[in-house]
Amino acid sequence: MNPSISLNVNGLKRVLVIEARVSLLDALRDHLGLPGTKKGCAQGACGACTVLVDGERINSCLALAMQYEGREIVTIEGLADSGVLHPMQQAFIEHDGFQCGYCTPGQICSAVGMLSEFRSGAPSAVTETGAASGELTDAELRERMSGNLCRCGAYVGIREAIQQVYGATKP
Ligand code: FES
Ligand code: FES
Repeated sequence: MNPSISLNVNGLKRVLVIEARVSLLDALRDHLGLPGTKKGCAQGACGACTVLVDGERINSCLALAMQYEGREIVTIEGLADSGVLHPMQQAFIEHDGFQCGYCTPGQICSAVGMLSEFRSGAPSAVTETGAASGELTDAELRERMSGNLCRCGAYVGIREAIQQVYGATKP
């Protein structure tokens, strides 16, 4: 018999009866009717499946749904607030940060989580001092978003959009 699990997704408690081996990505898309999160590689290499869990970005294709009971999961469908787009969504529109749009939900969720990581001082592979600080340089931005691939090559607009949100929300 399959286990019953309770997930908190976009502020709503959702109860599911699914096999223990179901990924969080498949639970969201196939069992909860949230197709905004995309399946690209299904092996952790493209970032299309990125969602936020307790504010941190994860690849939902590599996560088992049942491991995330009691956590706050936010997908692209949950980023807007009462019909008002999240600033990152708005910036992607303003800077043409997409073409086909397939990678876009993952890019946007990843960018939101990435800015939070940067502001907390978490270093990346290109951070020269012990902790990240100051300006979000292009090198930092490229490195920190390197897990999100865009086959359309919309990277210039994606980076401009993220920099706009970073600049507008600097402490
Ligand atoms: Fe999860 Fe590609 S679908 S990283
Ligand atoms: Fe097409 Fe990124 S906009 S893959």
